[in-house]
Amino acid sequence: MWRPSKCPNEVSLGFTFSLQLALPKQVRFSVKSRVNRKLVVCTVESVGSIYQTSDVRISKTSEWNALEQHAKNVISKTHLRDLLTDPERSEKLWAEFDGCILDYSRQRVLPETMKLLFDLANRAKLQEKKEAMFRGDKINITENRSVLHTALRAPKETQLFVDGVNIIESVWQVLEKIRSFSNRVRSGQHTGVTGRPIKNFIAIGIGGSYLGPEFLHEALRTERVASAAAGDRILRFLSNVDPVDVKRATDKLNPEETMAIVVSKTFTTRETNINAKTIKDWLIYHLGDSPETIKKHMVACSTNLDMVVKFGIDPENMFPFWDWVGGRYSVCSSVGALPISLQYGFDVFERFLQGAHSMDDHFRYAPLERNLPVLLGLLGVWNMSFLHYNARAIHPYSEALLRFPAHIQQLDMESNGKHVNIFGENVDYPVGEIDFGEPGTNGQHSFFQLLHMGQVVPCDFIGFMESQNPVCEEGEPVSNHDELMANFFAQPDALAFGKTAEEVEKEGNPKWLVPHMVFTGNRPSSCLLMPVLDAYVTGQLLALYEHRTAVQGFLWEINSFDQFGVELGKVLANKVRKQLNESRYFNKDISGFNPSTTRLLNRYLEGSVGCAFEHVYHYE
Ligand code: F6P
Repeated sequence: MWRPSKCPNEVSLGFTFSLQLALPKQVRFSVKSRVNRKLVVCTVESVGSIYQTSDVRISKTSEWNALEQHAKNVISKTHLRDLLTDPERSEKLWAEFDGCILDYSRQRVLPETMKLLFDLANRAKLQEKKEAMFRGDKINITENRSVLHTALRAPKETQLFVDGVNIIESVWQVLEKIRSFSNRVRSGQHTGVTGRPIKNFIAIGIGGSYLGPEFLHEALRTERVASAAAGDRILRFLSNVDPVDVKRATDKLNPEETMAIVVSKTFTTRETNINAKTIKDWLIYHLGDSPETIKKHMVACSTNLDMVVKFGIDPENMFPFWDWVGGRYSVCSSVGALPISLQYGFDVFERFLQGAHSMDDHFRYAPLERNLPVLLGLLGVWNMSFLHYNARAIHPYSEALLRFPAHIQQLDMESNGKHVNIFGENVDYPVGEIDFGEPGTNGQHSFFQLLHMGQVVPCDFIGFMESQNPVCEEGEPVSNHDELMANFFAQPDALAFGKTAEEVEKEGNPKWLVPHMVFTGNRPSSCLLMPVLDAYVTGQLLALYEHRTAVQGFLWEINSFDQFGVELGKVLANKVRKQLNESRYFNKDISGFNPSTTRLLNRYLEGSVGCAFEHVYHYE
């Protein structure tokens, strides 16, 4: 295989295919061509030698082969029912850090499997890649960017220079600005345009500019300290371009007491721009068209100052972040800091950052064998690439984590849903799981039937020592939290052990019913047991999962930090939008679409009214 060790001289940047000229730069970049391939390799060169580990791809190494053989010859002949009888094995497949316990004895692994996975990690230069990430090397090679979400939670006194700038200082300048702004709003110093205090917040954003902050908000909503700090404030999110979401976000809110936070890294995302415009109109309609209305009621978190200003938001009310923060990794930047500090106070957000930083340090420095994110990542690689389980479920036994699976879904699937490796070559091994989940016990009454008797889906069970809201009911044998946790402990064993035909028969069931009641078991899971869910622990959990995703990407040799896959649909939507405008308001026939889409569009146009406003402008 061609794996050059130096940037080829003949690379030329001056080409594009005619089809690509109309597309954004990043889309052009993803098109495969001989020249692009060289460009990628050239960029790889610029991040040092970490990706030039050898002249074979990872799946052709002896370490990969050893794992394949091990899966086939050893693990396929084991059952968790038997493996779990070995106390020594259980003791070994356990790791702890800073109050977080990881029990991975219900994974289909032996201590020797882990040893082989560590060998693979070393072959893939996991340590070097981790270090390159923390150091700020431009490991997002397709976008030529550093990946430094870890810098967002670094302590104030530390330093990290990127392109000659101490970015920790920049991070803390923004955090301090957020501290002071949120204090002014919360204390009533910054009021709305009519003089009323601001106590409602609508965070407008989508994808990474929404899912992380929403998960964090939900995690804190019922936490003792955070909820006391929130008082009667309301934080809502507006993400979907569906106008129904506007209705839900503004429902029963008094505009005089409401502040909108427009969160968009690029400030060019259609959904966010339309929603921001709609909320701006809502504010102006209720509060009047003076410049003060927007100044007092709209703020922004973005990397794009020009667009923020163009939109009409006072530059003083913009809270920046940087291109080295990926959207789905941005919750620790102003993206999460501003809404969460407004709602709960900056101190709560700072605790969250501290929890994440604690996990960052652990990820960076702990040996592989005791490193929680590394262990989770290696198990992900094992389950996906060697045992061929395509999906993975997250079950937080905490209602407060109801949006955590959705956040991890974006974090992981947008990161590792790739078909080529960092060299632009097709990956010849499965990468990128389908992530989904629901809080326990709700999930148990929904899709757990499939998990127990249908397809095998490795699971993460996340439980907590204490509840955010302890309750004891008289007459009940255990507290309500113990009741919840009884399920947390039971489900992994049910999945692992299953129930044999003999056991079912012994229960006195008729013979014909037996097959219907057999549980095959041998279904892998990990248990993560943490202290009570507070801001600090939420930070730990976030960083743990962020790094798990990175570990998997590093081992698979893919770029976990770009997301070209979301572009094509956006480009096609532009074309459809233009067509809808021209057909609805200028009677143009539908053209340029395939017969199916043409038919659907025609039916849609026939059956709907479009814009109800009197003045319809030609689409620009
Ligand atoms: O969904 C694709 C995506 O590009 C995400 O990566 C990003 O978090 C989201 O859109 C929103 O982008 P922005 O913050 O620029 O509005």
